[in-house]
Amino acid sequence: MMRWQLLVTTLSSLSVLGGATPSTCSSSPATLHLPDAPYDNFFYSDCNTAAQVVITSPQPDSNLTLISPRFIAAWPAGNSGVCAYFAPENGVNGSLSIEVVNSTVGNPLAAIESGSASSSNSTTSYYGVTGTIRFNTSASLTVPILGSIRTIRDFVEGPSLLQPQIQDTINVTSLPNGGASLQRLWLDNVTTTHLNFTPATNGSVTINNKTLKFEAGDYVFAAEFNYPQLTQLSPAQVLSNSSTALIQQDPERTTALSFLSYSTKLLAGAWRFLTYFGRDSMISALLLEPVLSKGENSAMEAVIAAVLERLNRTDGSVCHEETIGDYATWLNQQDGIVSTDPQYDYKMVDSDYYLPILMNKYFVENSVGKSRAKTFVSIAAGATNPNNKNLTYGQLAAINAERILRLAAPFAGKNNQTQANLVRLKDNQIVGEWRDSTYGIGGGRIPYDVNTALMPAALRAIASLSRRKFFSTKSSSWAILADKYAQVWEDETLQFFRVTVPKSQAKQLVSSYAQTIGFTGPNQTDSIDDDVTFHALSLDGNDNLNQVAVMNTDDCFRHFLLNTTGSQSQLTAFMNQTANNIRRTFPAGLLTGAGMIVANPAYGENPVYAANWTSGAYHGTVIWSWPLAMMAKGLEQQLGRCSNTTSSHGKTTQPDFCKDDAVYGNVKNAYNILWDSIDANTPQLSQEVWSWVYNDKNETFVPTPLGVMPPPPGSSSQTESDIRQLWSLTFLAVTRNTSFE
Ligand SMILES: *[C@@H]1O[C@H](CO)[C@@H](O)[C@H](O)[C@H]1NC(C)=O
Ligand SMILES: *[C@@H]1O[C@H](CO)[C@@H](O)[C@H](O)[C@H]1NC(C)=O
Ligand SMILES: *[C@@H]1O[C@H](CO)[C@@H](O)[C@H](O)[C@H]1NC(C)=O
Ligand SMILES: *[C@@H]1O[C@H](CO)[C@@H](O)[C@H](O)[C@H]1NC(C)=O
Ligand SMILES: *[C@@H]1O[C@H](CO)[C@@H](O)[C@H](O)[C@H]1NC(C)=O
Ligand SMILES: *[C@@H]1O[C@H](CO)[C@@H](O)[C@H](O)[C@H]1NC(C)=O
Ligand SMILES: *[C@@H]1O[C@H](CO)[C@@H](O)[C@H](O)[C@H]1NC(C)=O
Ligand SMILES: *[C@@H]1O[C@H](CO)[C@@H](O)[C@H](O)[C@H]1NC(C)=O
Ligand SMILES: *[C@@H]1O[C@H](CO)[C@@H](O)[C@H](O)[C@H]1NC(C)=O
Ligand SMILES: *[C@@H]1O[C@H](CO)[C@@H](O)[C@H](O)[C@H]1NC(C)=O
Ligand SMILES: *[C@@H]1O[C@H](CO)[C@@H](O)[C@H](O)[C@H]1NC(C)=O
Ligand SMILES: *[C@@H]1O[C@H](CO)[C@@H](O)[C@H](O)[C@H]1NC(C)=O
Repeated sequence: MMRWQLLVTTLSSLSVLGGATPSTCSSSPATLHLPDAPYDNFFYSDCNTAAQVVITSPQPDSNLTLISPRFIAAWPAGNSGVCAYFAPENGVNGSLSIEVVNSTVGNPLAAIESGSASSSNSTTSYYGVTGTIRFNTSASLTVPILGSIRTIRDFVEGPSLLQPQIQDTINVTSLPNGGASLQRLWLDNVTTTHLNFTPATNGSVTINNKTLKFEAGDYVFAAEFNYPQLTQLSPAQVLSNSSTALIQQDPERTTALSFLSYSTKLLAGAWRFLTYFGRDSMISALLLEPVLSKGENSAMEAVIAAVLERLNRTDGSVCHEETIGDYATWLNQQDGIVSTDPQYDYKMVDSDYYLPILMNKYFVENSVGKSRAKTFVSIAAGATNPNNKNLTYGQLAAINAERILRLAAPFAGKNNQTQANLVRLKDNQIVGEWRDSTYGIGGGRIPYDVNTALMPAALRAIASLSRRKFFSTKSSSWAILADKYAQVWEDETLQFFRVTVPKSQAKQLVSSYAQTIGFTGPNQTDSIDDDVTFHALSLDGNDNLNQVAVMNTDDCFRHFLLNTTGSQSQLTAFMNQTANNIRRTFPAGLLTGAGMIVANPAYGENPVYAANWTSGAYHGTVIWSWPLAMMAKGLEQQLGRCSNTTSSHGKTTQPDFCKDDAVYGNVKNAYNILWDSIDANTPQLSQEVWSWVYNDKNETFVPTPLGVMPPPPGSSSQTESDIRQLWSLTFLAVTRNTSFE
């Protein structure tokens, strides 16, 4: 009982101070309030801790099967959190609404830092967040989950999974001031999570058979746990000196970026992915590179070091996702091991390639990075992942490069450019790159982005790093070999994925697709002025589809990561078809008033296409922020090659498409159409993903949260978008180049 007494003391002292932060922080807390009905998001961080609170409250138009009253507090430390579902006592679904309100406790949130601030024993200090929650009618707390965000996601996104071994250890006790407390000791036997409610006004909370019952009214909630906190990078620490003006110009995005940035890793998103994800942090760092801090203790090195620390030393694979905190102990227990050690997931095949690309961007192309390379490669790994003790960052980077060269070799061999020699997903995995949901790449085994862009770009990067002796003794042979392989992968892979649909068939497919999905806007067949070309999402798909013929945005990888110099006719046609697919409006192309969709299944004849890539599917006809940024930056770079008049060895380096007025104009036009659409969707840009509904009256696509769209058939529940995602903050660095207007 000591613990809640400590908490009560903290609360009353906070009240006295009117919600001031613990005096130990020299700067005021960073806060954000981001409404996104039916969700309401609050962020709070100070020098001690960081927390997000998400309140979900049904709206008059909510689908009550998908949306019910829910409270979540989420913490980056240990990827931890608490979740509580509420139901109205009157039994009328939809009648209970909940909200967080300003009060003497906080505006609306304040930090909890109980236990002595001077204590260096982190297991005895509690950190968390407090505020006031309002119930419009009497309610009961139906499902509490205390511990890991992963455990919460298993319930929220999975088929409502609850583990008795975790749920049954929640204790319910009353508090002396009329409140009630839920407490759970983690499987580590050390950490405890508390979720407390105390009446703020004249309401009351009672305990009935371990269930909390609330009268209508205001309650002070306090969610806290005793687990070591991470060291957050402030906006000034995460941005380079030359970019600190962004803190004033764009406080919301820079605060969100800081919330997701820590000394040992950048986190993928809030609230669902508050931890390390390899692909997310590296794509973000590539796009944010111009504004990110560089040098020792910088954001750039935090990203690269986080990837190297978690690398699989045996085969050079980059870790996709780490499992830490209570869920790690739980997974270990499932494996029959008593341990709190993290687990690392290596199921993705794309993540390996981002590493050398990012290292080249920093250690070769940036002057600060260049000066840091020698020191960085000699840093000893193992601080995060004990498996990598005895290896340096340089050795780990070389193990990764070795893997890539090994996987590249067969296809690069003489007369060996066959589909069988392309990179495939790992056995028994249905996902392997960024479209990592069941129907993301349609069951395909051979992904488009990995084979046509990531592999050759990684090889170019390995060659470039090798020329600077980055891989010590290996460097001399790799410098030439990697470039040789890269040439083959650049020139010979697109053809496997190319899909060309004759004009008349294209019109007919789009028209019938529009009917199939009941699309009520114009079917846009008039914009199909020629045969339609795009590149399949993947090869070797479900339903015996050799090519998964879904038009998509993954062209952006080649535009952003490669300046190919091989076949000029291939490059010209490639530039042209991207431009066509962007400038045409859905259902003929990728453009919508809500942004550029990442997948358009209209040109697939098989009915599975329309059924699986819907506006409710995570990787369906929906909009993700980072492909908008990568496509915009990629097209800008390609157009930039046309103004590049420097010649190498007396030859101009201008690609042929620059001199084809129609194609060059088409690309420039697509670039501006894309930016018009980005500018029109500013309110959505920092979110993970969003969908749309078509409004017949106004003839517009209306941006709509994915979480309120019905999921595609076969999915048990809908995926809720993160309100802030690391790789959706890249418009801090990616801006419109007005010289192409
Ligand atoms: C709550 O307090 C914050 C910070 O002072 C303020 O911005 C916000 O408008 C307040 N909300 C209401 C509903 O008064
Ligand atoms: C920290 O506190 C825990 C629990 O009271 C105790 O078991 C542990 O020995 C302490 N560690 C240190 C370093 O004082
Ligand atoms: C919950 O109650 C049990 C039984 O009284 C006790 O052993 C355990 O320590 C309690 N857990 C917490 C987190 O207080
Ligand atoms: C926690 O304590 C239980 C009961 O003593 C024990 O079975 C379990 O192995 C311990 N877990 C860890 C991670 O030490
Ligand atoms: C208490 O709740 C449990 C689980 O919901 C239920 O099985 C049990 O019957 C309830 N007991 C009483 C006395 O209502
Ligand atoms: C690392 O790679 C090796 C070889 O592929 C594999 O056997 C091992 O399971 C991987 N490690 C982990 C933690 O997955
Ligand atoms: C690191 O080296 C030490 C001393 O040689 C050895 O005891 C230890 O097992 C090594 N650790 C790993 C992870 O290889
Ligand atoms: C060609 O590919 C096959 C596998 O498909 C591989 O065994 C062979 O080594 C490759 N040839 C070269 C020269 O790399
Ligand atoms: C598609 O749009 C065209 C042009 O507006 C129209 O003539 C045609 O009937 C539409 N197709 C269908 C199936 O509605
Ligand atoms: C570019 O696309 C347009 C529209 O589809 C087409 O008419 C033209 O032939 C294409 N040009 C090249 C060089 O591919
Ligand atoms: C391609 O060229 C453009 C224009 O010169 C340049 O901005 C971009 O960085 C280059 N991309 C790569 C991957 O080298
Ligand atoms: C509400 O959601 C459920 C579950 O996805 C779905 O079956 C149902 O059709 C939806 N209701 C409406 C009115 O959209």
